[in-house]
Amino acid sequence: MAKKTDKTATGELDRILVLELVRVTEAAAVAASRFIGRGDEQAADAAAVEAMRAALNGLRISGTVVIGEGERDEAPMLYIGEKVGRGKGPKIDIALDPLEGTTITAKGGPNALAVVALAEAGNLLHAPDTYMSKIAIGGGYPEDVIDLDNSVAENIANLAGAKGVAPEEIMACVLDRPRHGEIIKQLRELGCGITLIPDGDVAGAIATSNPDTGIDILMGEGGAPEGVLAAAALRCTGGQFQGRLIFRNDDEKARARRLGIDDLNRKYNLEDLAAGDVIFAATGVTDGSFLNGVRRSPRGGFSTHSVAMRASSQTVRWVTTDHTPGYRAR
Ligand code: FBP
Repeated sequence: MAKKTDKTATGELDRILVLELVRVTEAAAVAASRFIGRGDEQAADAAAVEAMRAALNGLRISGTVVIGEGERDEAPMLYIGEKVGRGKGPKIDIALDPLEGTTITAKGGPNALAVVALAEAGNLLHAPDTYMSKIAIGGGYPEDVIDLDNSVAENIANLAGAKGVAPEEIMACVLDRPRHGEIIKQLRELGCGITLIPDGDVAGAIATSNPDTGIDILMGEGGAPEGVLAAAALRCTGGQFQGRLIFRNDDEKARARRLGIDDLNRKYNLEDLAAGDVIFAATGVTDGSFLNGVRRSPRGGFSTHSVAMRASSQTVRWVTTDHTPGYRAR
């Protein structure tokens, strides 16, 4: 009898786990939602971390956190290298941010998310907790429309040309930071619209893949771990992303080298950051450009809004879930 073709670990995994992953982000989002507008970033983050960890530990995987809450001596839970899951099943690398937008949540602002990406071990960049220079666009464009090494004007001209609109029609998303003064000035000179976001550039990058948001391109410097999460999402939508690590001091360079990064000046493409059959899920904590935040139902339960995506099929599922009163992740 012919031997059955052996599927890759993730060939099985991505279909089965993608909806399980939504449970993980739902749990973190609901936990964090209790702290929306309460001015306590740490409490919001801690609640999300604890809930996400409990939900991850219910998954039938042998998971290792590669993008997490920090190095082992800095983070009590979901630290880099922590093993999660039931210890059975395929070896999986996990990039996560239980609360992407801690300040947003504390201030009751828009676009806070709970986020997770999974891939077969070895497929996610073990990025240090440094800044990363980023550029991202959504799906449907020819390859190489954007390039981190091009000027702002070149990138906008190429994107506008590919979209078939004038540069003035392009809407860029940029983190509202003094370090972005020059990018903002150049975008203004080109006549582009700019959506300045207070925090949350994972949401900003994903927004480029959703025409309803009106955002065409993300530019600027944000966290490198968030860059890996954004790349994982854009692998699933057919988007494009490039990133380059930025180091402010020798300690940050040493952190990168400890994680196996030798070329500190490397320009990372999408697949360098998140390769293989990546799966990605996010649940809105507060209302945002493409996800609603957690709602409390009149009966005391919760309603959540999530997105779950697979790179192998580029399927994007939108999931609205009603959780009964007394809901907790298991
Ligand atoms: P946190 O939720 O971890 O605070 O991250 C929010 C965030 O805005 C990210 O989306 C972004 O990549 C990074 O912080 C930007 O860093 P900084 O606030 O130092 O400019």
